[in-house]
Amino acid sequence: MPASRPQPRPGVLDIEAYVPGKSKASGVAKIYKLSSNETPLGPSPKAIAAYRQVAEHLEDYPDGAASDLREAIGRAFGLDPDRIVCGAGSDDLLNLLARAYLADGDEAIHTTHGFLVYPIATLGAGAKPVVAPEKNFTADVDAILAALTPKTKIVFLANPNNPTGTYVPFDEVKRLHRGLPPHVLLVLDAAYAEYVRRNDYEAGIELVATTDNTVMCRTFSKIHGLAGLRLGWMYGPAHVVEAVNRIRGPFNVNAPAIAAGIAAIEDTAHQETSREHNSRWLAWLMDEIPKLGLEVTPSAANFVLIHFPKTKGRTAQDADKFLTARGLILRQVGAYKLPHALRMSVGTEEANRLVVKALGEFMGSRP
Ligand SMILES: Cc1ncc(COP(=O)(O)O)c(C=O)c1O
Repeated sequence: MPASRPQPRPGVLDIEAYVPGKSKASGVAKIYKLSSNETPLGPSPKAIAAYRQVAEHLEDYPDGAASDLREAIGRAFGLDPDRIVCGAGSDDLLNLLARAYLADGDEAIHTTHGFLVYPIATLGAGAKPVVAPEKNFTADVDAILAALTPKTKIVFLANPNNPTGTYVPFDEVKRLHRGLPPHVLLVLDAAYAEYVRRNDYEAGIELVATTDNTVMCRTFSKIHGLAGLRLGWMYGPAHVVEAVNRIRGPFNVNAPAIAAGIAAIEDTAHQETSREHNSRWLAWLMDEIPKLGLEVTPSAANFVLIHFPKTKGRTAQDADKFLTARGLILRQVGAYKLPHALRMSVGTEEANRLVVKALGEFMGSRP
């Protein structure tokens, strides 16, 4: 019997829609939004100026190939611009990769606490998300390899991962790649790469350059402070770039985003200031929060995962309520199978100190 109304393809109604971080708290004079891993320092002033200039010409379509931006990214990283695709945020690119490489019945692997866009993109493409268990809140290469089946077409790995902040060293990423059949696409999502200060980390450029089945995705939403404009890019083998270019929207990146993106990637001094700020306050938060009796997962990114007790009055939900009432907005991460934790973005000095002070009061209060 034909259905009585249009039906979405199988999988679509299994998707739990992505819920962004909160940005409001009622009855509070000042809000400190620490729920979406945005930079507390904002974008480069040069990016804001470039954005404003384009506002004079909104009647013009953007360059559909984003050529100047791809060239600027190529110069910044020493990459061939022809192997770069830009997108409306890296979300756009993750979805395009899923649409290009997954068909009904295929499987895509992600890890237990992996970024939520992976199962959403996978189900949206009609395929099945397969979850590989983590160890110590960290992706486990052996578990990912054990989850491979003849139906696997993509492995998504956020490195560092959101919301845990943990990372997989380059040797392990290479071991993962070696264990994949050549037809399986390894998507290295390096949204937080700029913040990582570890000798054994590599975002993915080397693997993309030397293999035929690795793609690296990056974003302008984090260190570049352009989350509101929606801008990301990927670097991949020529054949993957060609496939993604065939299905992407012809003008998927808007003109203000292109202009601001070029100015942002060229302002290395602003990036360095943001990196320094993050290193200093990430270390401070990882030192201070455990002194309050709360466990923090070691983070290489611009946020920390704070674990709360399960006792009534001390739970992550209680803490969230307590902090929100003070204008301090963190992120509940139950949707990431972390119901007993909150994720906090590294904020301004003022915001970081206020959260630590409030958490001290919360832990010291009568449960
Ligand atoms: C791991 C990871 N990948 C990708 C993204 C998406 O970034 P964009 O704003 O570029 O879509 C995020 C954003 O939170 C993220 O945490």
